[in-house]
Formats: sequence, structure tokens, C-alpha cells
Amino acid sequence: MSSKVFFDVGISLDGYMAGPNASPGNPMGDGGRAMHGWIFQTATFREILGIPGGGGEQGTPDDARVQHVFARTGAYVMGRRMFDEGEVGWPENPPFRGPVYVLTHSPREPWVRQGGTTFHFVTDGLANALAQAKAAAGGKDVRISGGIDTVRQAIRAGLLDECTIHVAPNLLGAGKRLLDGLAPGEMKLVPVRADGSALVTHLDYRFAQAS
Ligand SMILES: NC(=O)c1ccc[n+]([C@@H]2O[C@H](COP(=O)([O-])OP(=O)(O)OC[C@H]3O[C@@H](n4cnc5c(N)ncnc54)[C@H](OP(=O)(O)O)[C@@H]3O)[C@@H](O)[C@H]2O)c1
Repeated sequence: MSSKVFFDVGISLDGYMAGPNASPGNPMGDGGRAMHGWIFQTATFREILGIPGGGGEQGTPDDARVQHVFARTGAYVMGRRMFDEGEVGWPENPPFRGPVYVLTHSPREPWVRQGGTTFHFVTDGLANALAQAKAAAGGKDVRISGGIDTVRQAIRAGLLDECTIHVAPNLLGAGKRLLDGLAPGEMKLVPVRADGSALVTHLDYRFAQAS
């Protein structure tokens, strides 16, 4: 089976994927961390992020979701602004453990980190970044990690097979919305599954153009 291309992101109930004033010093923008409250309660994410003391809940449906998304992914593509936040915020062993292709117009040498994560900087566009990611994924899937502009670009270019959107029950009121500016015909989704917990609702879709 060929590898799938997907995104898996969190949004607020009013549709924002980042709050206002996002920057490396303020990752995800004002109030943005609340979107991901659920994930920080899972044992798997805390372990992958290397949070001291570990903790978190094991064996819950939310924890299983985190395990699944990390297990299925062989390579990542992300935009430079998402990378900028992570460059200062991720630990020395970043939560990827594989190749990450960072879209940018500014060339840079690869940045090798602990645990198998290497950031490669790609200056010739999303389709080329995806081709490199697919070749490196070892048959696993390729995750478009974010940010908002990069995911939208992938939607518009018809490059996605599947997506998961985790809807948090909070409002951000301002920031950057995932789906702003997309016309109805630009994103045709087939619902696959919906479930959740007290903290979040998980929505899985298949892109209608995908086989
Ligand atoms: N809620 C979530 O689940 C989630 C997930 C991931 C990220 N985020 C948030 O998303 C925000 C970042 O998203 P964003 O929309 O601001 O930016 P982004 O998509 O992360 O990055 C945009 C940048 O990527 C580069 N780029 C994009 N397409 C390119 C192309 N075709 N060719 C060359 N370079 C290209 C450009 O960098 P250059 O300017 O260097 O050319 C562009 O400025 C962050 O605040 C992050 O916290 C949220």
C-alpha cells in the first residue's frame, strides 16, 4: 500500500488553529495551548515530548489517538513559521524521530537532532517537499504537520488523502483559522469517524478526491 498524506491538527471551537500574536516566544499564539489541553494529558505525548516525570493517562481513547498518529508517520512536512516556534521550544530530542521537511525561501543546511529527527530545508515548493518526504517515509504515511498556511496550501493543491481535526471546547476569538479563505469546492470531505472525550472531539475525514 502506498503511503498516505494527511494532516492532524487541533482547532478551537471557533475554528482557530493559532491564537493571535504567535511567535517563537509565544507558540500557538495567545491562548493557543488550550487547544491542545487534551494531548498534554496523554501518557504517550508526555513521553514523546520528554516531559520530566512523565505522567499522563495511559490506555485512554485520547492516548490511543496519539500513539496511532506517531506510529503511522514516517516523515513530516511543515512550514517555516511552525519550525521557528519549535526550534526554540522543542527539546533536543524533538517529537518526530524521523525526517522533517521544512518549507522556506531561505536555504539552510540540515539540522540533525537527537532521536532520529533531522530537519531538511526545502526551497522548491510543497510538491517537492512531499516527494522527498514520501521517499524517506519507508512506506509509512507523511504528515503535513502545519502550520495553517502550509495545510491550506496542501488542501488547495489536492495533495491530501486524509485528515484529522481535534476540536477543543474553547474559543480563541482571534488568530488564524484553519479554513479561512477556502471555497466550498476546494475541500470535499467524506466523514470517516468521530469520537472524543470530555476534553476534545476527534473528527476523521477522507478527501473525496483520494482513492
Ligand atoms: N493547532 C495546531 O494543531 C497547529 C499545528 C501546527 C502549527 N500550528 C501553528 O501554526 C502557526 C504557523 O502557521 P503559519 O500559517 O503562520 O505558517 P507556516 O505554514 O508554519 O509557515 C509559513 C512559511 O512557510 C514557508 N513556506 C510555505 N509554503 C512555501 C512554499 N511553497 N515554498 C517555500 N516556502 C514556503 C514560508 O517561509 P519563508 O518565509 O521562510 O519563505 C512561509 O512564510 C504557528 O503559530 C503554530 O503554532 C498549530
